[in-house]
Amino acid sequence: MKILLLGNRGQFGTAFEKICRMRGIECIAPSHSELDVTQPQKISLALSKEAPDAVVNSTGIIDIGECESCPLDAYKVNAQASLYLAEATVEKKITLVQTSTHLVFDGKSHQPYTEYDLPSPNTVYAATKLISEHYAITRNPKSYVVRFPTLFGHRRNEKSGFVEKMITKLIAGDPLRIADDRMDCPTWSEDAAREVAEIVVSRANFGLYHVANRGAVSYFDFIATLAKFLNSQSGIEAAKDKEFTARPPKPLRLAISSDKRPALRPWPEALQEYSEVYR
Ligand SMILES: NC(=O)c1ccc[n+]([C@@H]2O[C@H](COP(=O)([O-])OP(=O)(O)OC[C@H]3O[C@@H](n4cnc5c(N)ncnc54)[C@H](OP(=O)(O)O)[C@@H]3O)[C@@H](O)[C@H]2O)c1
Repeated sequence: MKILLLGNRGQFGTAFEKICRMRGIECIAPSHSELDVTQPQKISLALSKEAPDAVVNSTGIIDIGECESCPLDAYKVNAQASLYLAEATVEKKITLVQTSTHLVFDGKSHQPYTEYDLPSPNTVYAATKLISEHYAITRNPKSYVVRFPTLFGHRRNEKSGFVEKMITKLIAGDPLRIADDRMDCPTWSEDAAREVAEIVVSRANFGLYHVANRGAVSYFDFIATLAKFLNSQSGIEAAKDKEFTARPPKPLRLAISSDKRPALRPWPEALQEYSEVYR
């Protein structure tokens, strides 16, 4: 199988390329400058040149604040690119994998959201990701939409996610205040990548999948567990989410799980293995 991966320097793309290498899957991964997904002609050229069996779109503007300030750019990269990719892949009978986010939900549920729950995005970022899902599924019947929760893991670009920022503070021994009412199911990007590769290679039924390590956890419990794995001396105090001024406000309870696929391993196992590189 030959895969064309877009977004190879990001958090998911970095992991996906590694998993492909480990599984012996041929993975062509042009950089952002080599293939800008907002340029449909470049997409067509790449598909003609590489003739992949599947395209994995892991590109995006994922900073919520940046999407609010520049909604048109967010639409172009997060949503319109998915339309271009769906139209270009369906023509050539190529499978499309469109990545998406748990932020499409409103965060009011006390249960993990499954593939059968109704999205209700409340940010520009989430709305553009939901549109990307619709474009993929409606324009190319050979599409997978894979939604992730908050990811942690190595990435090639210089950005830093929530968990990586916490690791830096925990290693430095800085005191932390963390919300104990914000729920998620943080997932190792390598576990997510392994699952997405399996979905594609095993030719699972096309459609929507939630991909997450097992178990919902509060940010406080998650960071306290991480501190233990890192032998950190940081004092960690529990706080409430409303004490932090996120603009726009982020939905509060965003755990997801899959009703369609067997659960991935529990998050503490994945976190312990990931944190070993920092010890
Ligand atoms: N990270 C998370 O916690 C998380 C959680 C839920 C869902 N997701 C979803 O997972 C997917 C991947 O996210 P990520 O965390 O890997 O993002 P990321 O680390 O920000 O990486 C985004 C990638 O997209 C590339 N890119 C941006 N604009 C592009 C364009 N116009 N043309 C081509 N490439 C472009 C970037 O290249 P450069 O770096 O070279 O600019 C980078 O390789 C997204 O769909 C996101 O919504 C992520």
